[in-house]
Amino acid sequence: MGMEKNGNAEGKLSEYLYPPEILKRLDFSKSPAKFHPKISAVDPGEDWMVVRPLQRSDYDKGFLQLLSQLTSVGNITRKQYDDRFTKMKHSGGYYVTVIEDTRINKLIGAATLTIEQKFIHNCSLRGRLEDVVVNDTYRGKQLGKLIVVTVSLLAQELGCYKMSLDCKDKLIKFYETLGYKMEPGNSNAMNMRYVKPLY
Ligand SMILES: CC(C)(COP(=O)(O)OP(=O)(O)OC[C@H]1O[C@@H](n2cnc3c(N)ncnc32)[C@H](O)[C@@H]1OP(=O)(O)O)[C@@H](O)C(=O)NCCC(=O)NCCS
Repeated sequence: MGMEKNGNAEGKLSEYLYPPEILKRLDFSKSPAKFHPKISAVDPGEDWMVVRPLQRSDYDKGFLQLLSQLTSVGNITRKQYDDRFTKMKHSGGYYVTVIEDTRINKLIGAATLTIEQKFIHNCSLRGRLEDVVVNDTYRGKQLGKLIVVTVSLLAQELGCYKMSLDCKDKLIKFYETLGYKMEPGNSNAMNMRYVKPLY
C-alpha cells in the first residue's frame, strides 16, 4: 500500500503540462534561425540538457527563480504553483516549455506558447509567445534561439496560422533572425494597466 502511494506521488510529480512526444515531431530545418553548431529540441547539443514541457515537479527545479529574471514573480507557494499547473492543464492551450540542466536538476531556460481559439479565419488558432527567459549564466549559447524556435515550430505543428509576441526594442533584431517581422502599420502593442487586485 505504502509503495503504491509513493509510486502515485512520483507519477504525479513527473506529470507533464502537455505531451512531450509533440516536441519530437518538430522539424528545425523549417525555421529560418541559424544555429552554429546545429542544435534542436531533441538534440540540444549537450547530453546534460533536455528540452521538455513544464512538469509539476519543476517548482523544486528553480522554475520560479528563473522567471524572476524576466519580471516580478511574487512569493508563490507550492500549492499556488500546483493549482495553477492543474488549471492550465485542464483549460488546454498552455505550452510552457523549458530547458533543464540535468547535472544540477535546474531549469535554465523557458518560453510559453499560448493558443487562442478563434471564430475568424475559419475557426483558426493564433499562437502567442510569452515569458521567454534564459538563466543569465547560460546566455549567449544559443539557448534563447533554441527555446523560441521550439515553441514557434510547436505553434505551427499545432495548427496556428500565426504567432505573435511583444518585446523590448533591443530584442527586435533577435526575433527577426528567428522569422518574426515588424509589419508596417500593424506592429503596435498597447496595454491598459489595472490597479492591483487586493487579494
Ligand atoms: C533574450 C534572451 C532570452 C536571449 O537568450 P540567449 O540565450 O542569450 O540568446 P542566444 O544565445 O540564443 O542569442 C541569440 C542572438 O541574440 C542576441 N541577443 C541575445 N540577447 C540579446 C539582448 N538582450 N539584446 C540584444 N541582442 C541579444 C545575441 O547576441 C545572439 O546573436 P548572435 O546569434 O548574432 O550571436 C536572454 O537574454 C534573456 O533571458 N533575457 C532576459 C529576459 C528577456 O528579456 N526576455 C525576452 C522578453 S521578450
